[in-house]
Amino acid sequence: MQHPRHDIYAFIHKGLRAFMAHTLVRVGRLDAHDSADIAVVSEEVRALLDICEHHLENENRHVHPAMEARQPGSCADVAAEHEAHALEIAQLRWLLERVPGNDEAAQGLYRRLSDFVGHNFEHMGKEEREHNAVLWAHYSDDEIRAIEHAIVSGEAPDRLQLAMRWMLPHMTPNERAGMLGGMRRTAPAEVFDGVLNLIRPLLGGRDWRKLTLALGI
Ligand SMILES: [Fe+2]
Repeated sequence: MQHPRHDIYAFIHKGLRAFMAHTLVRVGRLDAHDSADIAVVSEEVRALLDICEHHLENENRHVHPAMEARQPGSCADVAAEHEAHALEIAQLRWLLERVPGNDEAAQGLYRRLSDFVGHNFEHMGKEEREHNAVLWAHYSDDEIRAIEHAIVSGEAPDRLQLAMRWMLPHMTPNERAGMLGGMRRTAPAEVFDGVLNLIRPLLGGRDWRKLTLALGI
């Protein structure tokens, strides 16, 4: 079997798909007349929109220029979709502010968010097929990892933590052990322990056992 190429999108897209799916169904059962419920859901929706916006900015800033440098025109399609997504995000933020006490706004938010999630699911699939094909044709795995490193090393700690919170519980046990094994080698011990404590309650018992066995902890 051929060794698989490095997929820069795989894990962050798994995390985004999980966060989007979770938030969409959560908004579907939101009570627009319960301020505590609104507070919880609003925080989740804001965090989701923030990470989506930041994610597309990262792709625009770090991934697209690399692709365009070696295959001009290869990002045009996805770049236009990013502009449309930025607009959808602004509309969702506007709708969210109108939810308190307003059933119509809550339903509107749910349906618009559903459209947004649908667009993003197709969009991420396209990036994983078409953009990876361009990256793999023109860059080595080490070069692709360098692009990824430039993105991750520029992230604020709370952004990284949120990404970890959605990526790690939603990848396979092997992928999870690989990512955390890498983190144990490179990150300070308290950061590694913090991430373990963050995801432990989010993992089922079987997944937690597999992880502790794989890491020998
Ligand atoms: Fe994208």
